[in-house]
Amino acid sequence: MKKKLLSMILATTMVAATLAGCGSSAETAAPAEETTEEAPAEDAAAEDTAEAPAEDTAADTAAAGGKIGVAMPTKDLQRWNQDGSNMEAQLVEAGYEVDLQYASNDIATQVSQIENMINSGCELLVIASIDGDSLGTVLEQAKEKNIPVIAYDRLIMNSDAVTYYATFDNYMVGTKQGEYIKEQLDLDNADGPFNLEIVTGDPGDNNARFFYGGAMDVLQPYIDEGKLVVKSGQIDFETVATANWATETAQSRMDAIISANYADGTQLDAVLCSNDSTALGVTNSLEANYTGEWPIITGQDCDKPNVKNMIDGKQSMSIFKDTRTLASKVVEMVDAIMQGGEAPVNDTETYDNGTGVIPSYLCEPVFADASNYKELLIDSGYYTEADIQ
Ligand code: BGC
Repeated sequence: MKKKLLSMILATTMVAATLAGCGSSAETAAPAEETTEEAPAEDAAAEDTAEAPAEDTAADTAAAGGKIGVAMPTKDLQRWNQDGSNMEAQLVEAGYEVDLQYASNDIATQVSQIENMINSGCELLVIASIDGDSLGTVLEQAKEKNIPVIAYDRLIMNSDAVTYYATFDNYMVGTKQGEYIKEQLDLDNADGPFNLEIVTGDPGDNNARFFYGGAMDVLQPYIDEGKLVVKSGQIDFETVATANWATETAQSRMDAIISANYADGTQLDAVLCSNDSTALGVTNSLEANYTGEWPIITGQDCDKPNVKNMIDGKQSMSIFKDTRTLASKVVEMVDAIMQGGEAPVNDTETYDNGTGVIPSYLCEPVFADASNYKELLIDSGYYTEADIQ
């Protein structure tokens, strides 16, 4: 059945788009039955595919289960621990065996973990890559064995073994960060000029380019007209990237920027940080070296130390990406594929991995700051009060 299943998935170019958002907590707790109902055996795309016989799907529905490999980049960053454990719990609940691995941000380790998953009988792989360009060779083996691959959160580039992509809307993350800076500085009305510095993520992570692109689409016009000034002169993506999204790297780059440009008390008005680990580095650096009025600092992930910093007024905002939501969407996708259907997607245009556009499901990221963190993070059960004290 698996051969048929995969050839169906690969041969079918038309994918069923679901318009539903990805955000309700009811959905977060999506039971297996709900996913089963949504398995689009009878939808238009499946009907178009001569190779998807109804009996196969029905038989597989009865025999749900199988082994799913889940490859996560690192345990160092809180979000990936939550992504991994939420997905594992929900997959197990839906009747699957799970091989969950973390690779300490080491590409060779991730490659060998994926190889082991392929050789130990995993029937589907969910992969959050460390470096989107480094998995082509190992995924050739997955393709040979007809093992579908879902790229999780980060797109896997230049490999035609990638079947689907599930993520938050990365471009929207960037625009929300850029819009926040624009509104807080009132760039359309205030005279300025204002001083801005930019810290983005790992160049091997395709998401980093979307975060940067979304934010710069908002901010670049103000840089061009001189209302925003980047005193360090460091603006282009490669220059403002942070290898491995490392806090220490962001911190030491900010140390150098401050000592060269702001040590004499020059005001720094805003720092565009693409995520929380880089925002933490910037905050640490400012605390140690900067004497002016505290700048606006953006972030992403709502990591615990950063939520504390938001409460203390040291970080202005973050973007909340509820990993339970993404996990439950991926479980839904896994379930649909394993039952011979197509995974739900809502974007078939944005994410070209170099071999063509990968059908994607984009969840919506949510703005978070000191005024709404309680509702978003505590009331929803994501953290306890104690977690962020
Ligand atoms: C994720 C971010 C995360 C960053 C560092 C990105 O791919 O989308 O949520 O902060 O990686 O791990």
